[in-house]
Amino acid sequence: MRERFTVGDVVIRHGRPADVEPAVGVWLAANTARRNGLPPRPEQVARARGHLRNPGFFLVADAAGEIVGMALGVQARADDGAGPPVKGLCHVSMVFVAPDHWGEGLGGRLVDALLVEARSRGYERVQLWTQADNARGRRLYVGRGFRPSGREKEEFGELIVHYQRTLPQTT
Ligand SMILES: CC(C)(COP(=O)(O)OP(=O)(O)OC[C@H]1O[C@@H](n2cnc3c(N)ncnc32)[C@H](O)[C@@H]1OP(=O)(O)O)[C@@H](O)C(=O)NCCC(=O)NCCS
Repeated sequence: MRERFTVGDVVIRHGRPADVEPAVGVWLAANTARRNGLPPRPEQVARARGHLRNPGFFLVADAAGEIVGMALGVQARADDGAGPPVKGLCHVSMVFVAPDHWGEGLGGRLVDALLVEARSRGYERVQLWTQADNARGRRLYVGRGFRPSGREKEEFGELIVHYQRTLPQTT
């Protein structure tokens, strides 16, 4: 039987190259669970692996050596990623937790750490996209101060909504 870890045993730390494939496994399991067992398309898996190999910064939830969650931040670019860098804006490209650890507060801890890391890198604002029907994800982000900007679009056949928030400025 799989050993479980309490929240207090899980460490949020910077990801390393050796964490990429375990993180892809978490991404696949979390994405499939969110979609009620429907696995993502191969091109989505390839895109996720590409993001993990080239992040701006990459945080993982490490449960005694097992990767059980991740969060990625990158420099935001204009035109939904195709244009030049947008000064001061961090784009959150992934927040994922292994399904058997959902509801333990790890998503919140990962987002909290991501916001601290983004601020320490000089970002003033943070943005992300999440699925319109992703109630758990939307509650996570709203609880961390994100608000919908009003932008919506379709991606891989799903409606996604844009969220943003500012980061506290140091005095
Ligand atoms: C979204 C996700 C990262 C949340 O991870 P998690 O570890 O379960 O998050 P937490 O335990 O910190 O809970 C986050 C919020 O979810 C909400 N939540 C908890 N249980 C819930 C439930 N049964 N239904 C709906 N929302 C719930 C709570 O509001 C909680 O906020 P709180 O911190 O104010 O209590 C995780 O479910 C996941 O990996 N989902 C698949 C990938 C995904 O959707 N990623 C985000 C969008 S790209």
